[in-house]
Amino acid sequence: MKVKVCIGSSCHLKGSRNVVESLQNLIKDNNLKDSVDLSGVFCMGRCKENGVSVSVDDKLFSVVPDDVEDFFENEIKAKL
Ligand code: FES
Repeated sequence: MKVKVCIGSSCHLKGSRNVVESLQNLIKDNNLKDSVDLSGVFCMGRCKENGVSVSVDDKLFSVVPDDVEDFFENEIKAKL
């Protein structure tokens, strides 16, 4: 599974760094390093969304830093 977090300037201001760090920790804590490929990408063209743009394979999401855990459970862990 490929998870990409936007680290463009607009998403950076919305906390993309926190999102990346939280996801890294969740992936590590759940021993999913071999199944989830996490990377950063530049602007996905969805800066107007409320949260940070994140793609899981080809599906796009908008994730606010406070919701990272739910996002991880529902869209990453549950879909593996
Ligand atoms: S900076 Fe993230 S979608 Fe534009």
